[in-house]
Amino acid sequence: MTLEITPMGAALGAVVSGLDLSQKLAAETVERLRNAWLEHIVLVYHGQDLSDPQLLDFTRYFGELEYPPSKLLNYSQGSGQKDDIPLEINVISNVIENGKKIGQLGNAEAKWHTDTPFVERPPAASILHAWELPPSGGNTCFMNMYAVLEALPAELLAKIDGKKCKHDVSHTSDGVLRHDYDDSPDAKSCPGPWHPMIRTHPDSGRKALYLGKRAWAYIEGTTTEENEEILDAIWAIAERPEFVYEHVWTQGDVLMWDNRCAMHRRDEFDGSQRRIMHRSQLRGDIPV
Ligand code: OGA
Ligand code: MN
Repeated sequence: MTLEITPMGAALGAVVSGLDLSQKLAAETVERLRNAWLEHIVLVYHGQDLSDPQLLDFTRYFGELEYPPSKLLNYSQGSGQKDDIPLEINVISNVIENGKKIGQLGNAEAKWHTDTPFVERPPAASILHAWELPPSGGNTCFMNMYAVLEALPAELLAKIDGKKCKHDVSHTSDGVLRHDYDDSPDAKSCPGPWHPMIRTHPDSGRKALYLGKRAWAYIEGTTTEENEEILDAIWAIAERPEFVYEHVWTQGDVLMWDNRCAMHRRDEFDGSQRRIMHRSQLRGDIPV
């Protein structure tokens, strides 16, 4: 098998073929994959058959593993996952077994978000492995945040340059109040860490816009009105189709994205169908 990296011809993304990720990878192969990941932001590998330990082994080629939010935030009700799932694996699923959810996100739309921006050191990468898919629906879209930043008009850029944004921890990316957290009257008073709105990517050296989720985001030093106005203007540009790649899943896909310069969203799907994804994550660096 020869390793080939084929760009999607979209705003981001490339398909990697000729690799069986359950096998040991040579150092020069890992280097090519790392460079391709930095260049294309999203890498897709089709037809992979990986156990959880194999997915974690593959992830470790690129750095240290990170834990799912349930562990990072020490949820008092535990991970909500089955006991035999490794601590570093996050199950993303709508399936209910014996009256218990086996994973997170359900079947509703997951709105545009960055993974885990509500901790001081968000993960650098997420890797999703498609175990079981519904016949249709549940596509996942990715947004190129280098390109979005470049598209911002100067007057909008001036309003966020050098500014930090607060990334609310109390609501999930779907806007649901987390267990263990109280509701806040407005975005300004929500708990959460501050991250620069424009960050220099530590590996590519390029500047990217860093947004978490639209709801409950708060830009330092703004009134509620200014905050909503600036964020609405930014999001209206970001959501343009030209910055987006839409992934239609096939069973066995492994998809790795750069969480430092991409956002993603997932379409809803028929809740009577099963969808099971297993996710690993790479530990991040402090945004600069
Ligand atoms: C995620 C996520 C989307 C999907 O795992 O972080 O947003 O397609 N998943 O399941
Ligand atoms: Mn996500």
